Amino acid sequence: MDGNGRWAEGRGMRRIFGHREGVNSVRETTTECARMGVKSLTLYAFSVENWKRPRAEVRYLMRLLRRYLIDERPTLMENDVRLLGIGRLADIPEDALATLRETERLTSENRGMVLRLALSYGSRTELADASRRLAEDVLAGRLKSEEIDEETLRAYLYDPETPDPDLLIRTAGEMRLSNFLLWQISYSEFHVTDVCWPAFRREQLLEALRCYAARERRFGGLIQDDKPKGIEAERAS
Ligand code: IPE
Ligand code: MG
Repeated sequence: MDGNGRWAEGRGMRRIFGHREGVNSVRETTTECARMGVKSLTLYAFSVENWKRPRAEVRYLMRLLRRYLIDERPTLMENDVRLLGIGRLADIPEDALATLRETERLTSENRGMVLRLALSYGSRTELADASRRLAEDVLAGRLKSEEIDEETLRAYLYDPETPDPDLLIRTAGEMRLSNFLLWQISYSEFHVTDVCWPAFRREQLLEALRCYAARERRFGGLIQDDKPKGIEAERAS
């Protein structure tokens, strides 16, 4: 979710107004995805690198997070959305973390869609944290090093249940990954839009999904013309 600051500055407003407006995009995107039957949505809300921002902006974002986690509970319940946090959650201020845990608890029975909020998240820290815990298990004799394969490593990620995303959407025109889900996006399709996050709404989401629907996904394999295309071929094989 990028471009909050630019969106606000382009309107002669301070950056924080972009963050505030971005919450409306989060609600609309989440609700639309849940209604369309998307099973998993992961939003990159705050990176490990974002702690380097001015203190006042970080404080505002953490307050906004807490407000969001309280105010959105009825909408999450209405749309059968389960909310989970992923990242170095211990870095989050205590009141926001407690609110996150409570929202996770309240929505834990919802089965429509899982909304993961990546908070104090970085893919490299995720892999380093996973490696450390994996090494501890090897040292303690709970795991043999020769048993380690891709699925073993996955089990040590912040949430092993996070499915590999089919589609990665990047707003505000940036052509980089910024340390997001590096392990999980190996075969994700990318969609980059110039639209800033606060202006990313239903219309832009549908456009991204239309683009995605036109992609041919081979996952490193080959698809012959008489075979079903894209993800259908994956399922058929
Ligand atoms: C994304 O918008 C919000 C967060 C990273 C929390 P930015 O704040 O990065 O907006 P720009 O990139 O400065 O426009
Ligand atoms: Mg940015």
